[in-house]
Amino acid sequence: MGTARKRSASRRSKHGESVKILLSGARIQKKIRELANEIRCDFPGEPLHLVGVLKGAVFFLSDLARQIPGEISFDFIAVSSYGKETESSGQVKLTRDLDANIEGKTVIVVEDILDTGLTLQYLLRVFEQRRPKRLRVAVLLDKEERRIAPVRADYVGFKIPNAFVVGFGLDYAERYRNLPYVGTLSLGAGKKEERAQE
Ligand code: IMP
Ligand code: MG
Repeated sequence: MGTARKRSASRRSKHGESVKILLSGARIQKKIRELANEIRCDFPGEPLHLVGVLKGAVFFLSDLARQIPGEISFDFIAVSSYGKETESSGQVKLTRDLDANIEGKTVIVVEDILDTGLTLQYLLRVFEQRRPKRLRVAVLLDKEERRIAPVRADYVGFKIPNAFVVGFGLDYAERYRNLPYVGTLSLGAGKKEERAQE
């Protein structure tokens, strides 16, 4: 029983992938509380409009929104970037627009991860044209060394090394979003060979 449970608890999935914990759920929650306080201190007494980028930012946004005291509203936008499963091509397309106008609002864009920065660059251009009162960016994770576009976030949870990560909203082929922590993903041997030949 003990051994069987241990075996089934192994982090190698049926897809031959494995996930190694990088940031525990507790560390993430602590950081989100800190970010929430920092954001509220920067805009005391001001209504804040959070704009989450689907789907990766859902958990970060929902936890952040609940930790920021005072008046908060939120909305979602979705983009898709064409490319392979673990690489974005840089071409971004809007697939779901916001419900509400952001003109005159203090907007905080909430993203799961800042990688090349191409998605955020595209979104900031779209949002700036809509004349918000202020536009800020909060990201849970920042892979600084991967940056191509000259964008930066105002609020950064964790700077992480250049590895593909999953969990806490981040996916690989739509899987792993529900992990309550962030981990680095290792592909199975077969997939590594496939990727090496690409
Ligand atoms: P960027 O446009 O290259 O900055 O990438 C932004 C988007 O790519 C993120 O919002 C994620 O959806 C996805 N992404 C980038 N790096 C990772 C990763 O390590 N794991 C999962 N998704 C990622
Ligand atoms: Mg995303």
